[in-house]
Amino acid sequence: TKKIVIAIDGFSSCGKSTFAKEIAARIGYVFIDTGAMYRAVTLYGLRHGAVQDGDVNEALLIAMLPEIEITFAFNSERGASDIFLNGENVEKRIRSIEVSDLVSKVSGIAAVREQLVRQQQQLGRQKGIVMDGRDIGTVVFPDAELKIFMTADPAIRAQRRYKELEAKGEKVSLEEVERNLRERDHADQTRAVSPLRQAEDAVVLDNSHMTLPEQMDWVMRRIEKIT
Ligand code: C5P
Repeated sequence: TKKIVIAIDGFSSCGKSTFAKEIAARIGYVFIDTGAMYRAVTLYGLRHGAVQDGDVNEALLIAMLPEIEITFAFNSERGASDIFLNGENVEKRIRSIEVSDLVSKVSGIAAVREQLVRQQQQLGRQKGIVMDGRDIGTVVFPDAELKIFMTADPAIRAQRRYKELEAKGEKVSLEEVERNLRERDHADQTRAVSPLRQAEDAVVLDNSHMTLPEQMDWVMRRIEKIT
């Protein structure tokens, strides 16, 4: 069987990462969560004064980019790679609501995207990769052999994310989570650089009422056809 690139894009909290991780485990591919990379840059900015009064100082953040090194290392407990920011494991820290509220501003900066997209393309050059994000099928790997665009009912997505955060002990309300999802989806779809959109050759997966095993059946049929 030949190795391919699987690009997964879609709205926030559709379960893209869970799905991508499961695919990678099933077929022995590498899974890269590109949202985590934008979150790590956001965390760096927060820690180093590039966020003032809840707003991102773009020039300051751009000047910091050469200082930011992002790496991944497989965590066998989780069955996926953890993300490291200059050698520090920040897998948990980047999921806070504070980072979530700012990340769409950071991901709208062209220089940030250029740096991260270049790294993502490097990570995928050997193929055998499942990458999830917002622009994977449109910008990062326009030639990906399989492109999936994920979507789900917004109320269902908010519930899922809320439960996830609650389980981690984060103190947030469902309303706060819903607002964050709505704002991020809007910002991601309307930004000038690489907005979230469905690639023409992507297949849509609406998982509002699908279990993970059902989603796996759906995708494995498609993968088997191609490889
Ligand atoms: O996937 P996740 O929700 O963790 O992504 C966080 C944010 O990072 C998104 O809301 C989006 O602004 C940005 N992002 C992006 N391009 C990607 C992945 C994520 O702009 N490929």
